[in-house]
Amino acid sequence: MASFRPHVILSAAISLDGKIATRTGDSALSSKMDIKRVHKLRSRVDAILVGKNTVLQDDPMLTVRHVRGKNPVRVVLDSMGQIPTGSKIIQTSYDIPTIIAVSKKASRKNLARLGRFPVDVIISGKNKVELKPLLQFLHQAKIRTILLEGGGTTNWDFVNQGLVDEVIVTITPYLVGGQTAKTLVEGEGFSKISKSLRLKLHKIRRQNNEVILHYI
Ligand SMILES: NC(=O)c1ccc[n+]([C@@H]2O[C@H](COP(=O)([O-])OP(=O)(O)OC[C@H]3O[C@@H](n4cnc5c(N)ncnc54)[C@H](OP(=O)(O)O)[C@@H]3O)[C@@H](O)[C@H]2O)c1
Repeated sequence: MASFRPHVILSAAISLDGKIATRTGDSALSSKMDIKRVHKLRSRVDAILVGKNTVLQDDPMLTVRHVRGKNPVRVVLDSMGQIPTGSKIIQTSYDIPTIIAVSKKASRKNLARLGRFPVDVIISGKNKVELKPLLQFLHQAKIRTILLEGGGTTNWDFVNQGLVDEVIVTITPYLVGGQTAKTLVEGEGFSKISKSLRLKLHKIRRQNNEVILHYI
């Protein structure tokens, strides 16, 4: 792990064919058991990070609910500061520390709107949120471990910049298909296998009808 930034664990539930959601954005792939496992994992990290589309699509709370444990800080990448004020993340920001990472493109209006809630707005980057300065800031704020919970576009930016240290994926028993259905890692992708991120298989666990793969 680089010392200037937190340790990043990419976590997701994927279909057998590598999708994280259907073409309509339905991402309900996880079993109850797996949700519980993820909540345990959440309770052990300092922050959870997601991209804006995941908030728009799933309206997640990103809290620890199915096991006992502390809630990590929630971090949302949202260049324009457009996260809806009605979203669960904003609505629960009175109780759970929340960081909205925006770029210089975020309008004054959106910043003022977010300013009405107890969220920390961090400006990083010109057009879209720049990850390295953001991670540096989070590290300085004593955030040492981040659970990266997608979606595919955000995962790609982390992978592409060499900012992923571990991957924990649950392979669920679904074949989803669909050219426009989001996959674990979206973006442009690497041109060669030799240039791709290569990890080492650390652990395999069977969980009923699912398999959990842990690569480091
Ligand atoms: N199965 C699972 O475990 C799982 C987990 C999470 C999500 N999902 C699914 O994934 C889908 C969403 O994935 P997605 O790929 O469309 O979107 P995403 O990764 O959730 O969000 C992408 C957006 O984040 C913003 N962003 C800001 N800075 C960024 C940066 N540096 N790098 C990347 N993004 C940045 C961008 O919007 P701005 O330009 O406006 O900032 C970008 O369009 C949903 O359907 C959700 O249900 C599934």
